[in-house]
Amino acid sequence: MDRDLVTIADIKGREEAEKLFWLADDIKAEEAKEQSIKRYTSGYANTLRRKQVAMLFFEPSTRTRFSFESSVNKLGGKKLAMSSSSSSSTVKGESIEDTVRTIMGYADAIVMRHSEDDAVRRAASVSEVPVINAGSGTAHHPTQSLLDVYTLRKLKDKIDGLSIAVLGDLKHGRTTHSLVELLSLYEDIKVYGFAPKGLEMPEEYIDSMSRKGIKYTTCENFEDIPRDVDALYSTRIQRERFECTGVKEEDYRIDAKRLSRFSQGTLVMHPLPRNGELSTDIDNDPRAVYFKQAHNGVPVRQAILCNLIGNER
Ligand code: NCD
Repeated sequence: MDRDLVTIADIKGREEAEKLFWLADDIKAEEAKEQSIKRYTSGYANTLRRKQVAMLFFEPSTRTRFSFESSVNKLGGKKLAMSSSSSSSTVKGESIEDTVRTIMGYADAIVMRHSEDDAVRRAASVSEVPVINAGSGTAHHPTQSLLDVYTLRKLKDKIDGLSIAVLGDLKHGRTTHSLVELLSLYEDIKVYGFAPKGLEMPEEYIDSMSRKGIKYTTCENFEDIPRDVDALYSTRIQRERFECTGVKEEDYRIDAKRLSRFSQGTLVMHPLPRNGELSTDIDNDPRAVYFKQAHNGVPVRQAILCNLIGNER
């Protein structure tokens, strides 16, 4: 991996993605051993010893922030965090660049989320410590995609040859953008897109998918999604990012009735938080894996931190 993880392009091919998945599995296995064998300490418990990771979240976050913090704790590191996005000097007009030039003197890595597409890239360009993108604007969310693909790989045993339907706000949803970029490192992938009018996948991502060998199909109706698709990846409408009038989740809501048309192998995924697009009446269906997916954020983010700033074991 490059020194930073700002976009999927910082991951050097599928070999590097696979290495991270292997590392995530190994960390999990070591922790399970620690719980079952008395006086055994996980081989990764000191990987971030004496390391501090700054959490710069300029947008709300539950899963990404908590799973990063949990990852730092489990690896023996310490986190530096601001209490809320309004508690940093950016509200006094300080630039991202100056904020990062300051924080890099206090921390060994910076995890950053921001509402602007290129804020994290700008941060990385001035930082002397690794910068990890925890979600930037509508464009990138690479660590989410790594945990999404890790989850798919665990539950489907492979990524090559999978077909995935992405649903919802494909225009502003950074998780779907990074997801298709990560999937394009694999072979023979089919992606179906179903979005409310006006929120379709931007042309630049469709073009990039076709250049990289992903077969992308736009669905006009929910019923156009094949019943044997390997995963339905639903997303919420990003209401905070645009003037949203007249867009409703009903057309693409997944509920028990709609899910009944799909095969037993069709996983239901979602980066969360959900709004009306994912009915709670499917929560107990074994195909609904969104909380499992969220929990996989910990081993995957541990692997990313080990890779970027881990001490030699
Ligand atoms: C997503 C995000 O922040 O982009 N959440 C997450 O990180 N799991 C999805 C969203 O906000 O809709």
